[in-house]
Amino acid sequence: MTPRPNPRRNVLKMSQTEEARTPETTEPEHGERRLGFGALFSRHVISARYADGVWSGTELLDFDDLRMSPAAMVMHYGQAIFEGLKAFRADQRTVLIFRAADCATRFDRSATRMGMPPLPPGLFVDAVTRLISADAAEVPSSPGSAIYIRPVMFADEPSLAVRPSTEFRFLVLASPVDSFFASGRTMIDAYAQRSHIRAALGGTGDVKCAGNYAGAMAAKTEAMSRGCDEVLWLDAVEHRFLEEFGAMNCFVVQGSGASAELITPPLTGTILPGHTRATVINLAQRRGIAVREAPIALDEVLDPDGMISEVFACGTAAGVAPVRTIVTDAGRTRTFGHRPGPITAGLAADYTALVHGALAAEPDWIIRIEG
Ligand SMILES: Cc1ncc(COP(=O)(O)O)c(C=O)c1O
Repeated sequence: MTPRPNPRRNVLKMSQTEEARTPETTEPEHGERRLGFGALFSRHVISARYADGVWSGTELLDFDDLRMSPAAMVMHYGQAIFEGLKAFRADQRTVLIFRAADCATRFDRSATRMGMPPLPPGLFVDAVTRLISADAAEVPSSPGSAIYIRPVMFADEPSLAVRPSTEFRFLVLASPVDSFFASGRTMIDAYAQRSHIRAALGGTGDVKCAGNYAGAMAAKTEAMSRGCDEVLWLDAVEHRFLEEFGAMNCFVVQGSGASAELITPPLTGTILPGHTRATVINLAQRRGIAVREAPIALDEVLDPDGMISEVFACGTAAGVAPVRTIVTDAGRTRTFGHRPGPITAGLAADYTALVHGALAAEPDWIIRIEG
């Protein structure tokens, strides 16, 4: 019999205890190599199932492969939604989960949009808290690291009927992470192209369903083949205005010094209302920086003599990521510099301080766990 690979592939020892190394692990101790993003998994997973119109209670299980019918509807019609949030180390004994309640609300909106059942109030946040309490020892502490938490819900009724599933699975898993980008870079290069669109009005662009990402993979491949880290999506109608990056919202800085203004595309229904976006707006306002939601024309962003001096991306996975270069499919390029601009650098520092507990958070933003 062929030995079954361990599903927690590449698990590193995160804590000082002996528990988290798998027999085939050959990696050095945590701290000696990059964790990357989403390649390692913590010891446990939370699971609940929906059938006959009700959710089961949640179970804390060992991380393991799932058994599913080949007819599970998610594999045919893609009815799946997910969330992404992080827990950060504040100190050796304290872990902070950031904006879990907001993720629960967005998960609910995604479920409704995708014809999926809502979770009972509190179940989402309880599940996330229970998982991170159980696996707190695996929350890394090196600079730039965190544990990324991935709640997901998908259709698992075995049927090929083209209708909403009546059975669903809810899981929460966690992954110790550091750099989101495969390149390991902290400043990113983005690729703006017009052959694909991410979302149009009335579609699913403002919720977190798996299909949004499936439809974006070919553009991401093209971006990477051009040496870029991310796609910069443009509006679906005119292909002129910035929407968002592949997994991040977008900000530009207009002007400089005391008159600098932060601008981000408005939430008109085609972009994801990011929690990092909302957090950055809050942090900018605390610094006294003017913030405005307005359409941003790619032409203005690419104009080296124009008013836009900095561009950055932001999202849970990447934090605040300064943009170094934008490249377009029409052969235009603008490089903003090889160091983050002053506004971006200040907001990135504030964001890091906030999520690690060194800057005051707003009510309900943080769940504190001892572990
Ligand atoms: C398409 C897209 N936009 C924006 C974001 C940022 O959202 P948040 O800040 O809530 O992580 C994400 C996050 O994954 C995303 O996938």
